Amino acid sequence: MTAATAKTARLVNVAIIGGGLMGREIAAAIQRWPALIDHPVRPRLTAVCDINPAALDWFDEIDTVVLKTTDYHELLADEGIDVVYVAVRHDLHEQIYGDVIRAGKSLLAEKPFGIDGDAAQAVLAAIAEHPQSFVRCSSEMPFFPGAQLAIDYIRSGALGTIVEARNSFLHSSDLDVNKPVNWKRQNEFCGDAGVLNDLGMHTWHVPLRLGWAPESVYGVLQNIVTERPGPDGALVPCDTWDNAVLHSWSRHDGVLFPLTTETKRIDPGQKNTWEFEALGLDGGVRFSTKNPKLVEVFTVRDIPGGGREQIWQQIDAGSQSVWPTVTGPNFESGFSDTILQMWAAFLAEREGLLGERFGTVTPQEAALTHNIYAAAIRSHTTRTAVDLPADDLPVVTL
Ligand SMILES: NC(=O)c1ccc[n+]([C@@H]2O[C@H](COP(=O)([O-])OP(=O)(O)OC[C@H]3O[C@@H](n4cnc5c(N)ncnc54)[C@H](O)[C@@H]3O)[C@@H](O)[C@H]2O)c1
Repeated sequence: MTAATAKTARLVNVAIIGGGLMGREIAAAIQRWPALIDHPVRPRLTAVCDINPAALDWFDEIDTVVLKTTDYHELLADEGIDVVYVAVRHDLHEQIYGDVIRAGKSLLAEKPFGIDGDAAQAVLAAIAEHPQSFVRCSSEMPFFPGAQLAIDYIRSGALGTIVEARNSFLHSSDLDVNKPVNWKRQNEFCGDAGVLNDLGMHTWHVPLRLGWAPESVYGVLQNIVTERPGPDGALVPCDTWDNAVLHSWSRHDGVLFPLTTETKRIDPGQKNTWEFEALGLDGGVRFSTKNPKLVEVFTVRDIPGGGREQIWQQIDAGSQSVWPTVTGPNFESGFSDTILQMWAAFLAEREGLLGERFGTVTPQEAALTHNIYAAAIRSHTTRTAVDLPADDLPVVTL
């Protein structure tokens, strides 16, 4: 942000409900806002709510925070607050998201946007009744510069006739069978879609935005670790799906193609790997956060002194993503940069100033992911592919 824009940028007061892992991450990203060049908005974190008073202590680091509370209604009653970010357990989404919307505040919700499809539909209904509330859902991985390069490559038409595509989110956070159970490992709090609720938005944001809503889904789901130590060390049920691979049929430029999405909590060797690959007859592109500078593009070329060859070419992606920053263009980008970029996109879109740039997940896209997960679970149970009605396909926004 330049000195001139800093003076004219509109001040937006932000509050956080849920000061856990993600609440702190977002608070830190807002502190880095001056890294953005000429952003129309200047967010200021003014309020935080967590039912655990100890979680609020960390926010003493941030001197703009004037309200700390254990009751989010207090924060919603504050007329000075414009935007609320909510990062709580999935079973709490429907109530809290609805309350934020009904209070007339804008909302950046967290995935999976309600514990199930009914909860997501209830949030959509609240939005319909309160259209002044601008609502989007969090999904930051596509804001890696390499992911943006891959998206732009596909939008350019460079694939030609598509062959196949894959988007994966791979962890091994649950490899240790002695890791205690927590809310993300219990259907009651995480939802029946398990790992899909936890990681699925990461694998559907880009496909849905590219217009690749699936027409049918075949789900392969695994609950690998069925019990984990509870609070007193005794084993308790760990009933969520750990890994889910969805084989779908989607359409690109009218051509049906296999789209595979993978969400895994147990993929030995992976920590937080987001991978995207799309192959066509004319070109191909792939990117993985495992090597976050590298984007590979495929081509067939005449080699000087040789014949016609298939080539994967390597590009270093640099630091620039959706919104320009003061960071040198050749420097590296990381997870916290993607959070900043996601917020830059969210607040610019709220102002109507995002233009053609890549945006955060829309409520309709988020709700559609629940239909996809439900189809995947039914498919897994029946061992047959499940069609998704065309009515479920969102309008393509690119
Ligand atoms: N975008 C991402 O990359 C990403 C990563 C992790 C988690 N998430 C999502 O963020 C959300 C929260 O996950 P997390 O890992 O931050 O969880 P967490 O358990 O670390 O934090 C949740 C916090 O919410 C608080 N809380 C519970 N009930 C509350 C209430 N009624 N009012 C206020 N605070 C309350 C808890 O005390 C806790 O501090 C989930 O929806 C999860 O799927 C997103």
